[in-house]
Amino acid sequence: MGARRFKITIVGAGATGATTAHWCALSELGDVVLYDVVEGLPQGKALDLLEATPAAGLDVEVLGTNRWEDTAGSDVVVITAGSPRKPGMSRRDLLAVNYRVVAEVAARALERSPDAVFVVLTNPVDVMAYVVLRVTGLPPARVVGQAGMLDSLRFRAFIAAELGVSVRDVSALVLGGHGDSMVPMVRLAQVGGVPLTALLAPETIARLVERTRSGGAEIVGLLKTGSAFYAPGAALCAMVAAILRDQGRVLPAPAYLQGEYGLSGLYTGVPIILGAGGVRRIIEVEMTAEERAAFMRSADEVRAAMAELPAEMGGPR
Ligand SMILES: NC(=O)c1ccc[n+]([C@@H]2O[C@H](COP(=O)([O-])OP(=O)(O)OC[C@H]3O[C@@H](n4cnc5c(N)ncnc54)[C@H](O)[C@@H]3O)[C@@H](O)[C@H]2O)c1
Repeated sequence: MGARRFKITIVGAGATGATTAHWCALSELGDVVLYDVVEGLPQGKALDLLEATPAAGLDVEVLGTNRWEDTAGSDVVVITAGSPRKPGMSRRDLLAVNYRVVAEVAARALERSPDAVFVVLTNPVDVMAYVVLRVTGLPPARVVGQAGMLDSLRFRAFIAAELGVSVRDVSALVLGGHGDSMVPMVRLAQVGGVPLTALLAPETIARLVERTRSGGAEIVGLLKTGSAFYAPGAALCAMVAAILRDQGRVLPAPAYLQGEYGLSGLYTGVPIILGAGGVRRIIEVEMTAEERAAFMRSADEVRAAMAELPAEMGGPR
């Protein structure tokens, strides 16, 4: 008696939203509410997922809805609503379409779940996380993006496949904005504690870095009608778990900088400690001059994208 299951609202029941619901249900993180504007879509996907729960013995409720009331009292709100890329598009090309959607859903979700931590996926994610921060007025710890976790998962998967080793033993960090200028930190990548640079030739590492950078575009190019969803959903689920279970996971994610790395007033990918209540701390890693230059170029790109926002969303006045 008295124990309450966690409640996770996922806004957007498209490819990433539904897949995140799937991963979260599989991990029994809590009850899942899938919200979308399209009538029938969240209800249909949620019902299908609910009907799958007996197969794996999962004690979770899954509800699909077009009504904000159903999202009330959520512990975590994940925002995936908005358009994905089409072949040839950059993430930044989505800004004009997506910021209105993200601003609206963030405000509506906050009304019903004033204590939630918000995790933002919609692209361009560094800018959209900032929009959520502005619209909700929440403390920066409670608004975090998802990007670096996915980029790092991709880098780890490619390294493990190249070496023929377990993905579990590969650790890697990708920092900076979630775009072509992201910064895979090769120097810090390790395989079972051994530096990656001791195991692979520089040309091979360069190839894996390039594939990581264009990992999203590679999938968009193959799918043609949408972008990646399994790995983004898995990355989101890991972040939701870190928050709900107060795990203190150390992972890269777009977080709001207030002086860290000499930057302020923007979201970009940095290592954070994620637990109950959101971002516990931003970790500052030492960088070589070259890494720092790449990180700053990436931050400049985020700022340039932010300048496309209207003034009330934090764009230039
Ligand atoms: N940050 C990352 O690493 C990352 C990874 C993958 C995808 N993304 C981004 O996530 C977003 C979603 O991708 P997807 O593949 O799930 O797209 P999708 O088109 O499959 O799903 C988006 C859903 O949002 C819904 N939606 C639109 N306006 C809404 C509103 N006002 N309220 C509620 N729902 C609304 C749509 O009806 C649709 O079902 C895209 O912007 C994509 O670029 C980011």
